[in-house]
Amino acid sequence: MDRLKDRAALITGAGSGIGRAAAQLMSAQGALVAVADRDRSAVEETGRLIESAGGRALAMTVDVTDEGSVADMVSATVHEFGRLDVLCNHVGGTNPRLDLDLMRLDMAEFDRAVDLNVRSTLLGTRHALPHMIQGGGGSVINTASVAGLMGDVLQISYGAVKAAVINLTKSIAVQYGPDRVRCNAVAPGAVVTPALLDNLPQEVVEGLKRTNALPYLGSPEDIGHTMVFLASDESRYITGQLFVVDGGMTIQSPAAPGRKAMLPPRR
Ligand SMILES: NC(=O)c1ccc[n+]([C@@H]2O[C@H](COP(=O)([O-])OP(=O)(O)OC[C@H]3O[C@@H](n4cnc5c(N)ncnc54)[C@H](O)[C@@H]3O)[C@@H](O)[C@H]2O)c1
Repeated sequence: MDRLKDRAALITGAGSGIGRAAAQLMSAQGALVAVADRDRSAVEETGRLIESAGGRALAMTVDVTDEGSVADMVSATVHEFGRLDVLCNHVGGTNPRLDLDLMRLDMAEFDRAVDLNVRSTLLGTRHALPHMIQGGGGSVINTASVAGLMGDVLQISYGAVKAAVINLTKSIAVQYGPDRVRCNAVAPGAVVTPALLDNLPQEVVEGLKRTNALPYLGSPEDIGHTMVFLASDESRYITGQLFVVDGGMTIQSPAAPGRKAMLPPRR
């Protein structure tokens, strides 16, 4: 219940999916949570959900690609809670209808991908760091993706920018470890959120279940619990690491499904 007691946490993309779940779970562990999203009504709903469960929330709009907006988000958090201990740079993604293969990629979408995933992570951290250092340290949690670890037939920008987020995580950890600021990344696999359901046809979603070692897809809470751990002192000796939370999507040999037929039937 008290793993994050009186810590101030700021979560971007908290109007929906994983970001909302992470904010609710951090609040349930005693954190004061600032929730930010570009969708005002969605993020206000997250704030209401937290407060009706007995937590304390500050809901605000932000565009994480706009430095002025990011600076205001951080200032408002510190003004409200007097400190900043945890930052989740959660917003990200690309549009799979524009982010295609190398030759058919829309270059404007590539630039947008860099802004939304990489620049936003860099900016959020840059504005939060001085407050974390002043408070004696902190934890930055970046949302990457398993897409940053593998090649794919489309979304060439998405893989590249998530790989960049993983590397950014390591450099931030190296550069600010001496200031007791930890920085880790979470790489979700397939997680049932609006982002997944809106972007993938149903047959692809069903196919993802077969790719996992576990026979189900992730929930936003599955990722949120990992973020709570990374925000808390339980992870005080962990920095610069990538936590792959993917139901075993990336650990299975590609030959495994085909080789199943070579086994005698299970008794
Ligand atoms: N859902 C998955 O399967 C999955 C898998 C791997 C990685 N991810 C990563 O998780 C993050 C998305 O989270 P989700 O799955 O909960 O998606 P989601 O669509 O449920 O939530 C994303 C939120 O980000 C907000 N947002 C979008 N652009 C913004 C901007 N410029 N400024 C501020 N807010 C903005 C949206 O309004 C929305 O509320 C991304 O970084 C994505 O790459 C998701």
